[in-house]
This record gives sequence, structure tokens and C-alpha cells, in this order.
Amino acid sequence: MKKKILISIVMGSQSDWRTLQNSESIIKQFSVGYEKKIVSAHRTPDRLYNYAKKIAETNVEVIIAGAGGAAHLPGMISSLTHLPVLGVPIESKSLKGLDSLLSIVQMPAGIPLPTLAIGKPGAINAALTAISILANKYPEIKKKLLTFKKNQTKSIKKKPQNE
Ligand code: RP5
Repeated sequence: MKKKILISIVMGSQSDWRTLQNSESIIKQFSVGYEKKIVSAHRTPDRLYNYAKKIAETNVEVIIAGAGGAAHLPGMISSLTHLPVLGVPIESKSLKGLDSLLSIVQMPAGIPLPTLAIGKPGAINAALTAISILANKYPEIKKKLLTFKKNQTKSIKKKPQNE
């Protein structure tokens, strides 16, 4: 049976996928249905509008949106839908993602956009945040999340080893 798509991963460019693949890997570990799309706020504004206006009519419950530079995509999506949007600032070449971070995180009051760390850690934590949002509703996801956290804790050694 086809899995219900609960998470939508959306990015401003093909070049963002290198980072957002880290979200995909986590989501796959939890066997949650997801989709991935390129939607550029600046290069495909109509696609952005259509995506954000229609996403609430689908089964999607959480959106992970990554963008770099003048990163307007996550904020625009948040302004067009009531679904939770998690922003992932992509590490840009010129400013190392500080531009992306500030573009995404500095939203005006009333348009929430929980923003994760720049780059890979942010992509991983966005996926884990999406999973924890879903865990409130789906007991099987909650069970997997608790196991994930327990295993992560167990994997940390008490003393450092020589590299
Ligand atoms: C943003 O511009 C994208 O999110 C990407 O991070 C950045 C650069 O895009 P490309 O020039 O690599 O397509 O819109």
C-alpha cells in the first residue's frame, strides 16, 4: 500500500538538494511518506503560489522548506498556508549561509517560521522536528522517535577514543 504523504520537502533550487537530502535520509529511517519539490520564490513565483495555496488540501501535515541567499521561499510559504513550515537555511558560497539564516529567521510577528541551523545539521533537525510534530498524532511514529533518541544516547561513549 502507498504511504500517505505527510511531509513535503521543498527547496529553492536543485543545488539545495545536497543539503536537504539529509532531511530525506532521516524521514526514510522513520518510514514516513514524503514528497520533494523544487519551488523557487524568485524564478518560479507562480509555482510557489500554487504550491502554498493548495498544500493544505493534501495529506501533508508539515513542510520543510530550504533556501539560500535571499531566501524568501520558506517565509512566503508560511504566509500562504496555516501548515507548520520549518525553515532550513542553505549554506551559501559568498556568506556561508548567514544571509540565508537571517532571511529565514527574521520573520515579522504573526508569520511563524521555526528556523533550524545552517546546512546539514539544520536539515537533519528539521526532519526530526517534523517527525516529533507527527509523533503527537501517530503512535507508531512516536514509538520510533523514542527508540531513535534512546539509541542515540546509548551510542555516545563515556570516554573519547584516539582517532
Ligand atoms: C536560492 O538561490 C536557492 O534556494 C539556492 O540556495 C540559491 C542558489 O540557487 P542556484 O543558483 O544554485 O540555482 O533561490
